[in-house]
Amino acid sequence: MIRPHQTIKQLFHLAPGSETTAQGWVKTRRDSKGVHFVQINDGSCFADLQIVLEAGAVAEDVIAKVTTGACIRVKGRMVESPAKGQAVELRGEALELLGAAPPETYPLQKKRHNLETLREFMHFRTRSNTFGAVFRVRNAVSYAIHKFFQERGFLYVHTPILTTSDAEGAGAMFQVTTLDLMNLPRVAGSAAIDFSHDFFSKPAYLTVSGQLEAEIFALAFTNVYTFGPTFRAENSNTPRHLAEFWMIEPEMAFCDLEGDQQLAEEFLKYIITYTMDHCIADLEFFNQRYEPNLIATLENVAGSEFARIPYTEAVRILESSGRQWEFPVHWGSDLQSEHERFLTEETFKKPVIVTDYPKEIKAFYMRENDDGKTVRAMDVLAPGIGEIIGGSQREERLDVLLDKIRAHGLPEEAYTWYLDLRRFGSVPHAGFGLGFERMVMYLTGMKNIRDVIPFPRTPGHAEF
Ligand code: 4AD
Ligand code: MG
Repeated sequence: MIRPHQTIKQLFHLAPGSETTAQGWVKTRRDSKGVHFVQINDGSCFADLQIVLEAGAVAEDVIAKVTTGACIRVKGRMVESPAKGQAVELRGEALELLGAAPPETYPLQKKRHNLETLREFMHFRTRSNTFGAVFRVRNAVSYAIHKFFQERGFLYVHTPILTTSDAEGAGAMFQVTTLDLMNLPRVAGSAAIDFSHDFFSKPAYLTVSGQLEAEIFALAFTNVYTFGPTFRAENSNTPRHLAEFWMIEPEMAFCDLEGDQQLAEEFLKYIITYTMDHCIADLEFFNQRYEPNLIATLENVAGSEFARIPYTEAVRILESSGRQWEFPVHWGSDLQSEHERFLTEETFKKPVIVTDYPKEIKAFYMRENDDGKTVRAMDVLAPGIGEIIGGSQREERLDVLLDKIRAHGLPEEAYTWYLDLRRFGSVPHAGFGLGFERMVMYLTGMKNIRDVIPFPRTPGHAEF
C-alpha cells in the first residue's frame, strides 16, 4: 500500500537525527568529488530539500537519471546542514527513481524561463518556483476568504453556473446549447431559432455573476456570500481579463452603500494580513523576483484607510490633472484603466473607493440616488491593477426597479422573480464582487492574470 506521505514542509520540522523518507521532483543535481547534491521539491513549501548522497550510495546508472524533473524517493536521516540558507538536509542512504525525465526532451530545464514560455507548458509550470508560490498563495487566499465570512456568520450559497438570466444585463454571456448547430430548429415561418427544442427548453448561458440569486438568499438569510466560477464572453485581450474567472460575492440585507464599503475594506485587509501571516516565504520570493515594493505595499495597505471619493470628484481630479489621456474624461464617461491607475498610483498612492457613478454606465439593479443622475455604486480600485471590486446598494423599490429594467431595454418577464423580491418583504440591501484573480495578482505582484489561474481561458485560448 502506498499512503499519503509526510511532505517536505513537514520534514523540515523533524529533529536532526530522525530517520525518514523524502519524495519529490528534482530541481537540480550537482556532483562534487563523487558526492551527489540533489534538490527536490514537492510543492508543500517554497524551500527545496537538499539531499546529500555519499559516493557509492547510489548506482551510477541510477544517479545518471536523477535529472531536473525526475521523481525520486530517498530514505535517509535528517541532519543539521552545513550549507547556508537551510537548517537541515537529508543524508540519503537509498534512492529509488520513480519517474525519469529525460533531459533531451523535458521542457523545463534548470535555467530560468520567462512567464510566456512557461504558459506553453501549463502541465509543468506548476513545478517552477514562481507557479509553486502563486498557487500556494491562491490556496491560502481561498481559505482566508471562507474564514473571513464564516467568522462573521455569513452563509455560503452555491449559485447556479448554468443560468437562464443575465445578471449584469450586459449580454456578454457564453450560450450553452445541445442543439445540432448544423441543423437548427426554426420557429414556424421565421428564421428565429426555436429554443423549445433545446436542453432547457429555452436559451441558457454560463453565469456572469451569482449576484441576483445571492439576493434571493440575502433576503432570507441576511448575510450570504458566493465563491465560484463566472464567465464573460467579452473579447478583451488584456492582462486583467479572463473569459473564466472566480468571483466572491457577499450580499447583505439591512445594509447600504456605507456598510458595503466598510465590509469591502475590512475584507481586503483581512486577506492581505492572512496571506502575509501564512505565505511569507512565497511573498518574499515575489518581492525579490518581481515586485521590489510588494511586502512594504501590502503592509501599508493593511494598515491604512482606503481613500473614498464620489465619481464626480474623481472626474474633477482627472480633468484637472494636466494629463493627455488616451481616453478623454468628462462627466458621464466610464473610467478606463489609465484613469483608475492615476487615482490609485499618483493621487492617493493607495486603494481608492469610487462611489456614485452616472446611472448610464452602471447595471440596472443599482439603487438610484435622489439626484436622478447617479446610482449607489462603488468600485474599489487598487494600485497596479485598477478595478478589483465592483459593487452597489441594490434598488429595493419596485416601481423604480421596473422603470430601470425598461430603461435598460431588458426583458421584464425574465426578471419576474427578481421583481417579486421587491413585491414581498423588500429591504435595503447591498453587496459586491471581488475578482479573485485580480486579488491574487495584487498579492503576488504578478502582472498578467493568465499567471494566477491554473488554466487560463482567454479569446483564442482554452487549453486542457
Ligand atoms: O464589476 P463586476 O462586473 O460586478 C459584478 O459582476 C457584480 N454582480 C458584483 C456584485 O455586486 N455582486 O465584476 C466584479 C469584479 C470586478 O471588479 C473584477 O475584479 C472582476 O470581477 N472581473 C474580472 N476578473 C477577471 N476577468 C474578467 N473578465 C473580469 N470581469 C470582472
Ligand atoms: Mg465592474
